[in-house]
Amino acid sequence: MKVDVLLGLQWGDEGKGKIVDYLAPRYDIVARFQGGPNAGHTLKFGGKKYVLHTIPSGIFRENLINVIGNGVVIDPITVEKELHLLKETGVSFLKRLFVAKKAHLILPTHRLLDAASEAMKGKEKIGSTLKGIGPTYMDKTGRNGLRVGDILLPNFLDKYNRLKNKHLELLKIYPALYDFPLEAEEAKWFSSLETLKSLQLIDCEYYINEALREGKRVLAEGAQGSMLDVDFGTYPFVTSSNTITAGVCSGLGVAPTAVGEVIGITKAYCTRVGSGPFPTELNDSMGEFLRKEGAEFGSTTGRARRCGWIDLPQLKYAIMLNGVTQIGVTKMDVLNSLSGIRLATHYKYQGDTHTNIPYDITEIPVEPVYETVKGWEQSLEGITHLEDLPKQAVAFLDKIAAYLGVPITIVSTGPEREKLITLPKHFEIF
Ligand code: GDP
Ligand code: IMO
Ligand code: MG
Repeated sequence: MKVDVLLGLQWGDEGKGKIVDYLAPRYDIVARFQGGPNAGHTLKFGGKKYVLHTIPSGIFRENLINVIGNGVVIDPITVEKELHLLKETGVSFLKRLFVAKKAHLILPTHRLLDAASEAMKGKEKIGSTLKGIGPTYMDKTGRNGLRVGDILLPNFLDKYNRLKNKHLELLKIYPALYDFPLEAEEAKWFSSLETLKSLQLIDCEYYINEALREGKRVLAEGAQGSMLDVDFGTYPFVTSSNTITAGVCSGLGVAPTAVGEVIGITKAYCTRVGSGPFPTELNDSMGEFLRKEGAEFGSTTGRARRCGWIDLPQLKYAIMLNGVTQIGVTKMDVLNSLSGIRLATHYKYQGDTHTNIPYDITEIPVEPVYETVKGWEQSLEGITHLEDLPKQAVAFLDKIAAYLGVPITIVSTGPEREKLITLPKHFEIF
């Protein structure tokens, strides 16, 4: 068997959690391969809303195994909080939540360093979620990090203290910021490690490859989005991991030849939270409309998300990087009342028209060129079959699929689990 991949094609928050939760019963294992508690994946069913940060979005499906892969960075405090919520909901997880021993740990001082680094940047700040993601990946690649498997070692405390003291030394280069209750946070951290120990700690690479050999179906769940990829995103306004398909190989320990379908998720428009370039951003009443209608406020930090039109050159870039084989379009319902919908098809910069994203997009003002299509001006509520979609909605989806050259197989029309249309990959219209 091969690993199927589901990931975000924009700047995150595309609705990945909802779609993973929907597709999960088709799989035996759902595995997160990168990122950490900077992610906020929202699931809605049974009249309730759940937000997951580190735990994969397959956890609510009975009998399904959920794996937190080695490419993920883990804050045991967040994991404990999420597990507490699951317990309250009556979800059993002890036998089916697996954590890679090679995943790196986020220390309380990583969060402190994140905050200090952002404060020092002032106006140039990344807009980090302040969960300690950047500093933890820096320690990983700098070969100083602590890994989940280390918590079982007799000299763990020594290792912890060595790293913490290094962080405290580093912090001296930053101006003292604010009171961070380090001792209290450390106490919580150590206590939550006991919860982490009670989960099944695995050699993720052997586990996943063995599962594939046994014919198990695996879905890799991405966090963030392709434009936040540390190599190909709008650097430096990115996160610190490879959010693209390539990250699945290093984040779970599978070979590139083991990757099967790649499902890319995009909103019917576009959002970004945090700083950095966003060519189709709308700083007007239409942007405000999308934010309000789409309830565009961060699932992790509650910050207002920046909103704009769908950006086809940007999506084409993400499709190329990820080898996307199927597209899921979410939040179609947010556009219900619009008489016209815009799609960026080109960019103007340096006196010419382009469809590529310039290397220095953070410096060069990029002006999008739009095409406008008719809106459907009716509710999509309750539509679960393509035949029932208004023809203008089909035309809008058709334009996206034709531009990108990849079939649309999922159309989401509301936050709830069942508000969705699925289409066979070979379906003619797309
Ligand atoms: P993720 O990080 O990609 O999992 O996405 P988030 O959960 O951060 O943000 C997506 C938001 O849109 C959540 O509040 C979802 O409940 C909501 N959502 C997902 N799909 C749809 C949809 O088709 N329509 C509407 N209106 N909301 C959706
Ligand atoms: P999900 O998985 C949207 C953004 C932050 C910031 C930048 C760096 O829910 O789609 P970091 O905390 O990683 O150092 O922040 O990346 N960011 C996200 N934006 N959705 C996310 O995750 C994000 N995770 C990080 O806002 O601009
Ligand atoms: Mg999110």
